[in-house]
Amino acid sequence: MTRVLFVTSEVHPLVRTGGLADVSASLPEALGHIGYDINILLPGYPEALKLTRDTGALHKARLWVDSYDVNLWQTRLPGTAVTLWVVDCAQLFGRSGNPYTNSKGQPWKDNARRFQLFAKVGAKIALGKAGLSWTPELVHCNDWQSALLPIYLELIPDRPSTVFTIHNLASQGLFPRDTFRNLGLPEHLWSYDLLEFKGQLAFIKGGLVFSDRITTVSPAYAEEIQHPEFGCGLENLLHQRRHELAGILNGIDTRTWNPENDPHIPHHFGSEDIKSKRLCRFQLQRDLGLEQTESPLFCFVGRLVERKGLDWLLDILPALFRRGCKLALLGDESSHREPGTQESGSEERKYEGELAKLARQWPLRLSVTFEYDEGLAHRITAGSDMLLMPSRFEPCGLNQLYSLRYGTVPIVHQVGGLRDTVFDASDSSSKRPNGFCFDIPDASAFLATIERALRFYENRRAWRRLQENAMTGDYSWNHSARLYSDLYQNILAERQHAIWD
Ligand code: GLC
Repeated sequence: MTRVLFVTSEVHPLVRTGGLADVSASLPEALGHIGYDINILLPGYPEALKLTRDTGALHKARLWVDSYDVNLWQTRLPGTAVTLWVVDCAQLFGRSGNPYTNSKGQPWKDNARRFQLFAKVGAKIALGKAGLSWTPELVHCNDWQSALLPIYLELIPDRPSTVFTIHNLASQGLFPRDTFRNLGLPEHLWSYDLLEFKGQLAFIKGGLVFSDRITTVSPAYAEEIQHPEFGCGLENLLHQRRHELAGILNGIDTRTWNPENDPHIPHHFGSEDIKSKRLCRFQLQRDLGLEQTESPLFCFVGRLVERKGLDWLLDILPALFRRGCKLALLGDESSHREPGTQESGSEERKYEGELAKLARQWPLRLSVTFEYDEGLAHRITAGSDMLLMPSRFEPCGLNQLYSLRYGTVPIVHQVGGLRDTVFDASDSSSKRPNGFCFDIPDASAFLATIERALRFYENRRAWRRLQENAMTGDYSWNHSARLYSDLYQNILAERQHAIWD
């Protein structure tokens, strides 16, 4: 059994600002099923500490790291057999709400310190210096919050291997030059080919430069990020490391997202008997105060930022409403904002304001909810006819996968993971068309594609076929967990050679 330490700053159902949390729960579980001894390491946010208390977690260690008093607790990730280690340091992580921002939506001033400490604790465990009887053979880090960890392992001869996964390259963990000094990082790391990025410290570069392998969450995104359009300024580095970079498509938790027995939805259905999906729609329309007509109900679930194509969406909505179509939108206010990204809180507030105004103009056609609500996410996914996902870029995207599984046909911008998972109904070369894609990045291409989908929708049989293709696709982790496993085994074998040759 290969031992893996999976280091993440979010995990469902404890703390979630986006898809990272979903993947951090479902991937370790899938790897556990195929024989990995995998432990998750998570900062001790109040929700995580509450779990440790409620479950009578084991106290595994007490460590002093940079004069912080840190306790390590061991429990299980709810609903799984996966071991969860919680880094309890009240001074840095004992703050409820969003893991990265205060109640005003501003990044915590000590974020760099917080996630440096998190990385250091991970490194101590990895090197067997945490007083535990377990040490990993491989450490798998995710996004900038754990990206300093590979640096601390770099120079140690018998260190475990390291993998770094990019869930979103635009989220880089950027901090001023002074922060670099305050963290006590060795001065030689301040270099454009190491941690410096356009005059700032970029945590993500720790992962990109120092880990043995880089992965990202779809093959298409792995290719796109090597070019300026999607590379966020890091394309040259990623291109240089292209032989150590792999794109592995995310799976989803097909138990949680199953229309046949989903406890959040009012009526169950499956690919063979989809009749009750209509009942879900009527119930949803009633709950959201939308008019009870047969005209198509679209949905949008995600962050209210330009990156998710919000400006294109706002442009085309009046045209949709004039045609009698409806939209259920589930956004997320401050709780989805991440520091060090190109997304800003004011941007979200701007879109919220515009959406709220539009909802007042079209009360029976548009419903907007700004606080993420898991049950509602399931009910919207089940009750809608089509999902709108016009992301400007999308590393993988999970909402299109959830939608596909519920026969909610996605209309997507053909980028990143959306390219790898949604196949256009009009593409004769596609073996299993399951949605609609647009290529040109603008609102009119988006609208033209929606209109194409609406024409298709009129043909009940053709639509049924699309839904069937969508619902019978395999979105589980079965295949991708094997790919991670192959990757892990390759690195481990290489390191064996490196040590003994
Ligand atoms: C980020 C990406 C999303 C991806 C998720 C999980 O949220 O934006 O595309 O699916 O991480 O990897």
